[in-house]
Amino acid sequence: MILAIETSCDDTCAAVVTEGGEIRSNVIASQGLLHARYGGVVPEIASRRHLELVDAVTADALERARVRLDDLTTVGVTRGPGLIGALLVGLSSAKALAASRRLPLVPVDHLHGHVVASTLAPEPIEPPYLCLVASGGHTFLARVDDPAAYTVLGQTLDDAAGEAFDKGARLLGLGYPGGPALDGLARKGNPEAFDFPRSAPGELDFSFSGLKTSLLYRVREHPDADRADLAASYQRAIVGALVDRIRTALDREGLERLAVGGGVAANSELRAAVERLGVPVWVPPVELCTDNAAMIAGAARFLEPLPYPEYLDLDAAARLG
Ligand code: KG4
Ligand code: ZN
Repeated sequence: MILAIETSCDDTCAAVVTEGGEIRSNVIASQGLLHARYGGVVPEIASRRHLELVDAVTADALERARVRLDDLTTVGVTRGPGLIGALLVGLSSAKALAASRRLPLVPVDHLHGHVVASTLAPEPIEPPYLCLVASGGHTFLARVDDPAAYTVLGQTLDDAAGEAFDKGARLLGLGYPGGPALDGLARKGNPEAFDFPRSAPGELDFSFSGLKTSLLYRVREHPDADRADLAASYQRAIVGALVDRIRTALDREGLERLAVGGGVAANSELRAAVERLGVPVWVPPVELCTDNAAMIAGAARFLEPLPYPEYLDLDAAARLG
């Protein structure tokens, strides 16, 4: 029985997962509204809020799973990448819990968590598979042959896909986070109404900052344009870039299974587009796509734990090198 804690950004998360990947509890205290008025996550506010919430969220995860600290075998925790102050709250808390019961601790790479989210029960994906992770902070394609590791095949060179959605939404006068609002507006528009630059075919890296700039110009050039048409065309360009690269990677790597994770996996057009690729696709429920601790426990299952007291001087890392 693994307890995991995740505090890399603006969600305070704790979960209990069995060695077999069964989720016993998955508690997420979202700070979204707290940061909304600033139009983005404020790191210092996030850290303080994690500090206020982490004990209650952890107690809640244990209670919902109907387990006590004594029933745990391992504690997992996100070590990075993320906001350093936010990570430190989760890491310190996990260390203290593990040390209090002399339990082993597994430090987890947050991105590894996203990559293996689809390996959790009830319908775990089997390697080898291709995984697209597209969130507000990250966008990359990875190859997974063994769930203990992953190989990055391509990644964004500038903005993340979720960031492109959020910035686009802001330019169209929608709220933060803008992804869901843009998705909704796009359904009422014509995706062929405006042309957006398409990135070079055959690439596995992504670039979204040019797209955002061209939306800015379209909005300026056509102040009376239908916002729904702009949203639909812009979304088509982002989803097109994601799906083109998925197709290239599946082909090049000879992979026949696809997992999608990260908050952008909630996008309706992306979901529909990956279903048309002709390979079996795993898109976990949204609470396993966005930041959560069940995926961190999920990754911890495959990793070597550090015995007590070896982890006591372990440090969080904003970037994992
Ligand atoms: O994984 P996540 O919750 O947070 C991290 O960034 O770690 O992802 C949030 C991102 C935001 O950028 C949000 O706008 C985007 O996912 N998002 C969406 C949709 N729902 C959330 N983007 C497009 N369409 C959606 N329906
Ligand atoms: Zn994430």
